[in-house]
Amino acid sequence: MGRFILSALRAVLVASFLTKPQAGIILEQRQSAVSGWNYYGCYTEGTSSRALSSKATAYDTMTLESCASDCAGYTYFGVEYARECYCGNSFSAGSVVTAASDCSFACAGNPAELCGAGNRLSVYAKAASTGSTISAPPVQTTQPSGPGPQKSGLPTGWVYAGCLQDNIPSNEDANMELPTFPYKVWDTQTNDAPSCIAQCQLYGFNAAGLEYASQCFCGDVENIIVASAPTTSTNPNDVQEYTRSAKPLTYDDSQCNAVCTGNANYYCGAGNKLTYYTFTTNPVQWSFPTGAAAGSYSLLIGGVVVPLITAQAITGKVTFVEKYGTGEPNGTGVYELDLTQIDNFSNAWRTMTGLKTDVFCAAGLTLPDKAGRQITVGGWSGSSNYGIRLYWPDGSAGVKGVNQWTEDPTNLQLLVPRWYPSAMIMANGSILVVGGEIGQNADEQPNLEILPRTGGGTVYLDFLQRTHPFNLYPFIIVVPSGIFILYYNEARILDEKTFATIKILPNLPGAVNDPTGGRTYQLQGSMIALPQYAPYTDPLGVLACGGSTSNGGYAIDNCVSTQPEAANPVWIIERMPSRRVMPCMAGLPDGTYLIVGGGKHGVAGFGLGGAPNYNAVLYDPTKPVNKRMSVMANTTVARLYHSEAIVLLDGRVMISGSDPTGDYNSPAGSWPEEYRVEVFTPPYLLSGVTRPTFAVSSKNWAYGASVSFSSSVGGVKVSLLGSVSSTHGNSMGQRTLFPAVACAGTACTVTAPPNAHIAPPGWYMMFVLSGPTPSVGQFVRIGGDPAALGNWPNLPGFNLPGV
Ligand SMILES: *[C@@H]1O[C@H](CO)[C@@H](O)[C@H](O)[C@H]1NC(C)=O
Ligand SMILES: *[C@@H]1O[C@H](CO)[C@@H](O)[C@H](O)[C@H]1NC(C)=O
Ligand SMILES: *[C@@H]1O[C@H](CO)[C@@H](O)[C@H](O)[C@H]1NC(C)=O
Ligand SMILES: *[C@@H]1O[C@H](CO)[C@@H](O)[C@H](O)[C@H]1NC(C)=O
Repeated sequence: MGRFILSALRAVLVASFLTKPQAGIILEQRQSAVSGWNYYGCYTEGTSSRALSSKATAYDTMTLESCASDCAGYTYFGVEYARECYCGNSFSAGSVVTAASDCSFACAGNPAELCGAGNRLSVYAKAASTGSTISAPPVQTTQPSGPGPQKSGLPTGWVYAGCLQDNIPSNEDANMELPTFPYKVWDTQTNDAPSCIAQCQLYGFNAAGLEYASQCFCGDVENIIVASAPTTSTNPNDVQEYTRSAKPLTYDDSQCNAVCTGNANYYCGAGNKLTYYTFTTNPVQWSFPTGAAAGSYSLLIGGVVVPLITAQAITGKVTFVEKYGTGEPNGTGVYELDLTQIDNFSNAWRTMTGLKTDVFCAAGLTLPDKAGRQITVGGWSGSSNYGIRLYWPDGSAGVKGVNQWTEDPTNLQLLVPRWYPSAMIMANGSILVVGGEIGQNADEQPNLEILPRTGGGTVYLDFLQRTHPFNLYPFIIVVPSGIFILYYNEARILDEKTFATIKILPNLPGAVNDPTGGRTYQLQGSMIALPQYAPYTDPLGVLACGGSTSNGGYAIDNCVSTQPEAANPVWIIERMPSRRVMPCMAGLPDGTYLIVGGGKHGVAGFGLGGAPNYNAVLYDPTKPVNKRMSVMANTTVARLYHSEAIVLLDGRVMISGSDPTGDYNSPAGSWPEEYRVEVFTPPYLLSGVTRPTFAVSSKNWAYGASVSFSSSVGGVKVSLLGSVSSTHGNSMGQRTLFPAVACAGTACTVTAPPNAHIAPPGWYMMFVLSGPTPSVGQFVRIGGDPAALGNWPNLPGFNLPGV
């Protein structure tokens, strides 16, 4: 994997995804062949919703005919990105017609037909003979006065702002010129202001610039007015950030006089000059809290280990698992931190033993057995590739445990070698292990398997084969209808028994300047499940933030969210205040999410990412879309590849690790292996409000059970956070539930989640909340151990907790 270079990744990508039409084929012929429908044009997406938003389908056998059939009863259908189909009776605001040649992707199910492109829909309208009334398409109005900057017919809220200098010398490098707006979106023969603006707005930017007839740039007004606006280099191997030496100059309108390639009626900038537009009603509003409201970073303890996976055990101690050969030469690869002994370094850390194989890069989970054993699966290489390792947490506050990690590579192995797999506890209590690859520059492992072994083999997953190598450490989570999986820039739901696909979601949007952006290793973003509230009637939401692009390692500056089980899931794009590849996300007890760490460019691993992102962002899903992010406190510690973030029972977030270059020779100016363990203290612990305390009558909950607890204050809420193993932006086991609670004074009852599809069996941190202020949490187990993991593995050397 380390020897992958971006151009090789690009070649794979182009070959497998961006199937372009053959030269010489007449596009119009292929675009008019759907019986009962007329070709209507190539359209952009809407600015804040899908161009055609009534219904959506997506699959790998997409043709114009199948989309037409999916859209029976609607006035329009549009096919996008080869395999997505949208239906509607009208176009959403901002969707405009563009050049037919823009819609250039072959249909996934019929290479002889054209099915849109990234952010482009091949649209068909029901033939008039059917009696439908077709509303006028939202084409731009023409300006009567002849060539000039386009000033009317722009997406709502956007205004022409002038002619602006581009490419300003950098402060740091005399040979470098920096763009006024950082994101060059395209250089096309179909460039015009409405399409450029629509793209900038869709991705949350408030300024758009057109240059040299054919180019579109997105950025923010702040990029113009802040004379030294930092502009990050786009070179993934370049870890510097650059600043401009001056504010761009403005020119007379007549200086921007190149005719737009996409519309001869208008001018689109000139050489080094931008015709630019600004958004007067920018809906993207980040908050900038100060003082205690921004939270704070602090050093928790100096480390003895550069962790690959962290997880808080049900004893309250935190396990750290290290890649072989990282850290100290005498390292054992496994350590445990006693949070009650932070002031006594030697008593805080326990050096553990027992590993026989290398956990690099394994998946981790807490098992639903009585002991809350921890497991890691997969690794690198040889027998490590098949590794299964277990630890039964023991000891207590201030008292070191004696149990060690246990493994038996001869008798307890995965079915197939897996490097970079993910794992999950299924609703039926078994362990699901998905994906990964065999090894460095070796084949994908496009399948899944179940532990304990069922006697069956692996189950082949064609979509993992197809999206290799961008789908490693896929995000997987139980949903009521099956298993949701998000990999590369795709997502789907699998049947939990057969693992056949039962629903394909639209592709995830990528970066503003590159639709090939993805969210899983090695484009590595992070994904979490959004809160579930009793009575759990709303479909589960998921949120994926950051990632990178396969064309050049351009770290993504947005989060996308959807409800996979909604009738027509649509990805909502929300711009982040900064770019992040390799972020970590932690779901907090109050239902907010902390986004930390990562870098501002490159891709994950092996020294390919840089420009550490030192800022924490708090995401509050209860606020309106585009107003959910707050720019929080900053750290000084770079957290790049192999860094982790987990919520602790004490309500803080433990942030650890960073091992950006692995075993490879460090490029000059790269970042160190990081031993320091930090905590982020969220504002709810800095507000001065007294934390509630509670005592719960049972720590072993059946589904739907009523469980009494006493609280120090009345009127409390309860949250349940799934026990997390954090690695590579993946929080395996994460979920956030707000169960029903009733209190009479301080005597309260919580109703356990109703079933394993709402809350898979396992250990959850229970918090009692007074307003946003959480108690210290306590681990409870929900749903028992239905797969009898407590009796597994029945082999010499393994102590079993039983069921
Ligand atoms: C490992 O080596 C480090 C020095 O590199 C030393 O400080 C530490 O005590 C050693 N640990 C063990 C368990 O021997
Ligand atoms: C640290 O813990 C060790 C082991 O319990 C103990 O012997 C030592 O006195 C403690 N040190 C301090 C400064 O409390
Ligand atoms: C859980 O479901 C999987 C898939 O059908 C099956 O292979 C496994 O045996 C089931 N586990 C239990 C405990 O029934
Ligand atoms: C953190 O840094 C960002 C700039 O990177 C700044 O805007 C923000 O105010 C800082 N946060 C705090 C709480 O100082």
